[in-house]
Amino acid sequence: MDIIVRENYEEMSEYAAGVIGRFVRNKPYCVLGLATGSTPIGTYRRLIKMHREGLDFSKVVAFNLDEYIGVGINLDVPYEVDQSYARFMHEELFSHINVKKENIHIPDGLTKDPAGFCSWYEEEIKRAGGIDLQLVGIGGDGHWGFNEPGSSLASRTSIQALSPQTLSDNYESFYKKAGVERDKMPHFAITMGIGTILDSKNILMIASGVNKADVVAKCIEGPVTSQITSSAIQLYAGGVTVALDKAAASKLQNLQHYIHIERLKEEYGMG
Ligand code: F6R
Repeated sequence: MDIIVRENYEEMSEYAAGVIGRFVRNKPYCVLGLATGSTPIGTYRRLIKMHREGLDFSKVVAFNLDEYIGVGINLDVPYEVDQSYARFMHEELFSHINVKKENIHIPDGLTKDPAGFCSWYEEEIKRAGGIDLQLVGIGGDGHWGFNEPGSSLASRTSIQALSPQTLSDNYESFYKKAGVERDKMPHFAITMGIGTILDSKNILMIASGVNKADVVAKCIEGPVTSQITSSAIQLYAGGVTVALDKAAASKLQNLQHYIHIERLKEEYGMG
């Protein structure tokens, strides 16, 4: 696991965008797994900038981690009403880069057949050749996607109920600002499973802020447990990078060791 610590959110975002940008440059026909939430916004802004400077997304295939049940993209509806992740992706990234519409996959929160949709999504990822690089954030309760405490670490794409903490976090980050009443928030989501995420060939996890410090430490240094579903990162066999700002890294017991390893890798040209 490469644990990269940067001074602040901006530098962490710069680093994460650099990883994704290099990946796309080296493998134009790649399959990217993408996340929503507050954390990736800075990364996406930098990717948009890279695109304006020439980074080509025309061959990229994208799969998003998750979507609330009961919402879906409708660009005729004002943002306050449509808090879908589809709309988020459209506004924060897709409408600013040259990814092809037919290459974008976001779970359909309006599907009439959620279980059928979940199986189809898994198949679609396989048909695309699997995810080359999956970007993930980490929830306050340790989740990846919406795999809340108690979800199986082998889970596949499925419907999950949001935990009280996720409801509260997402209300504060998005719904409150949009003036949506708390009890009108969706309580369920379609999410890639932990098993689905672990099938990716590379994982890039990002986290920022002191509010994430405890959960980041549990994820990376605590026991592997379904109570912190992102702790499955410790069992992951592919290439994994965790990009943190100093605040999010502040509770890591072995922080100095991770910083030392990064310096060594740089020194020996292994970064
Ligand atoms: C979003 C997602 C979630 C978020 C997590 C962190 O697609 O799957 O797991 O990554 O809740 O959200 P923020 O970045 O808002 O703290």
